[in-house]
Amino acid sequence: VFGAPPAQKEAVKRDYGAVRKAIADLLEADEYDDGSFGPILVRLAWHSSGSYDKATNSGGSNGATMRFSPESDYEANAGLKVARDLLEPVKAKFPWLTYADLYTLGGVVAVEEMGGPTIPWKEGRSDMDSGNACGPDGRLPDASLDQKHLRDIFYRMGFNDQEIVALSGAHALGRCHADRSGYVNPWTFAPTTFSNQYFTLLRDEKWSKKKWKGPLQYEDSSKQLMMLPTDMALIWDKKFKPYVMEYASDEEKFFKDFAAAFSKLLENGVPRTQGEAPAAASPAPAA
Ligand code: HEM
Repeated sequence: VFGAPPAQKEAVKRDYGAVRKAIADLLEADEYDDGSFGPILVRLAWHSSGSYDKATNSGGSNGATMRFSPESDYEANAGLKVARDLLEPVKAKFPWLTYADLYTLGGVVAVEEMGGPTIPWKEGRSDMDSGNACGPDGRLPDASLDQKHLRDIFYRMGFNDQEIVALSGAHALGRCHADRSGYVNPWTFAPTTFSNQYFTLLRDEKWSKKKWKGPLQYEDSSKQLMMLPTDMALIWDKKFKPYVMEYASDEEKFFKDFAAAFSKLLENGVPRTQGEAPAAASPAPAA
């Protein structure tokens, strides 16, 4: 029996719908955190991309450099090995898929599966094969700092005040882990549902300093929820606050602005041929 002609053998169908489904199938996990790996996949997509520096066009999701030391060991990336390991079987099942595309698509699928907006995403990132291209440490935000720091970090990536607030709304999802960041607790009562609850809580709750030996964080009246100093900065800063109020009262607007800003984050630094529309065509969502 003869095999298929070589040309046909090599023609791999790049089925991103199947990749999306494989990622979606990994999310639910009763034994992990609040029952989903979704939040940590969103954090992985963000930290892979948030190393971008617009001035030098360095860092960003292209390259998937976070697989390598020193980037994998940066304090800001503590805990993300859980997310990278989770995605390994998807990489094994679809060997043609790059890690850089996988880590960004993981965040996109997670947001969508947790009830968030459709995020425009496009394949085409390539992988570096060593840590030589890792950006320097310190490009991700430090939660203990203030609005000036937030602007320094996010303006460097090419974001404006409105986009900073929209992106921060991802903290509707997930929680802090004492052994990763030193902080504890989730931001919202529904940490596996993408919503504007982060903003309604920032607006409506009375936040006070948590009395404990850990780093400064804020707690609500139930003492079950938290805000980081950088989260509080969004309601204290007079330019950020109007966006918090807007997203608290208009979830649709938040979803629309988040989708645009998150898509831009994942696209930052990705080389596209001239005239190619970035992140224009989003493959059909997994069935
Ligand atoms: C978790 C800081 C922006 C998505 C965390 C944690 C910290 C943090 C300290 C806890 C990590 C842990 O202990 O496991 C910050 C700071 C930001 C920021 C200072 C500056 C504005 C963002 C953005 C996104 C995001 C832009 C996505 C668009 C998440 C998610 C989690 C998280 C989903 C939960 C992860 C989990 O449950 O394991 N962030 N973050 N964050 N962050 Fe942020």
